[in-house]
Amino acid sequence: MSLFNVYPLYEVTPVSAKGIYVYDKNGAEYLDLYGGHAVISIGHSHPKYVEAITHQVAKLGFYSNAVQNPLQEELAAKIEALSGCKDYELFLCNSGAEANENALKLASFKTNKSRVIAFKNGFHGRTSAAVAATDNAAIIAPINAQQEVTILELNDIASVQIELEKGDVCAVIVEFIQGVGGLDQANAAFFEQLDVLCKKNNTMFIADEVQSGYGRSGKFFAFQYYKLTPDIISIAKGMGNGFPIGGILIHPSIEAKYGMLGTTFGGNHLACVAGLSVLNAIEEEHLMENVTEMSAYFVKIANTIPQVKKTKGKGLMLGLEFDFEVADLRKKLIYEHHIFTGGASNKKVLRILPPLNINKGHINQFFEALVAALDGMFPKMVK
Ligand SMILES: Cc1ncc(COP(=O)(O)O)c(C=O)c1O
Repeated sequence: MSLFNVYPLYEVTPVSAKGIYVYDKNGAEYLDLYGGHAVISIGHSHPKYVEAITHQVAKLGFYSNAVQNPLQEELAAKIEALSGCKDYELFLCNSGAEANENALKLASFKTNKSRVIAFKNGFHGRTSAAVAATDNAAIIAPINAQQEVTILELNDIASVQIELEKGDVCAVIVEFIQGVGGLDQANAAFFEQLDVLCKKNNTMFIADEVQSGYGRSGKFFAFQYYKLTPDIISIAKGMGNGFPIGGILIHPSIEAKYGMLGTTFGGNHLACVAGLSVLNAIEEEHLMENVTEMSAYFVKIANTIPQVKKTKGKGLMLGLEFDFEVADLRKKLIYEHHIFTGGASNKKVLRILPPLNINKGHINQFFEALVAALDGMFPKMVK
């Protein structure tokens, strides 16, 4: 049976990985500044993570949500402690799209309304309502297009106000740092006004922290750079360091009812220990501090490179914007310099999403390769 061909693939076959490095089937070493799309948070094959999952699978890998699972409570307590998000409640699922589906569904249950406001260049997943709220017509099938979604420009608060005052909007969903779109961020006043307008109009404010959460921005959540209180926070990617796990944090103003949400696999024993060992590593290895320090180091060097027109993003969710499309540069980096980087809908942005325990040596290795790759593509430039 052949594979359904939906992914354009690089000619690399990773077979093992350790820390910030990935190794292919020929034993070649690659520096991973992509983290498998912002998923690898505490580093590949982290020894405590491997041990925790190995131990748990030998004991009890899975049982359904019909029985007590104290690991879920332990995970909820740890998320609360590290994020400082007091009083929220946790619902666990398996991916980012599923987290946003549940967030949008809850918003609709809570408000008894159904229209969603989302933003230009935003990405929220590939399923039902999540993809309908994504600004990319190419991935929205007719079945998804039935959802009522209005896409507005970031920073255009007047349009948000007009739409919310119509009274039919259940949720505003936003990324505080756009990932797939290319690292754009709205301004603080816009985000804070969104929160105010949502509260005024009985609309749920959903923070999509699927990519920006779990320390990647330098704070536990990217929304914590602002003064606001989301009603629902969706999480996934870095949460399991590669183990599929997602979830939503739900403000206590939204009351749970039996059967309102549910899943077979979400919150299983293995996913919970993966999630717990990620949080333990973030805490014990001071990874959020490392993110801030490494981010400053990275940006300082990036700003000395003449071809880099703009450095975007926060923490270790960064983008380097050039005045040319970066597809060839990414190929050069991967095939000639053995470095993984990411692309974006904005084709001129090179995305940098490394594990959060990257160090200055790795960053130096990247910039030496970047300068060599750029020198190979363009005549020498001086900033
Ligand atoms: C901000 C954001 N939300 C949601 C998703 C969807 O997550 P998943 O691919 O786990 O369904 C992504 C994935 O890139 C994302 O970046």
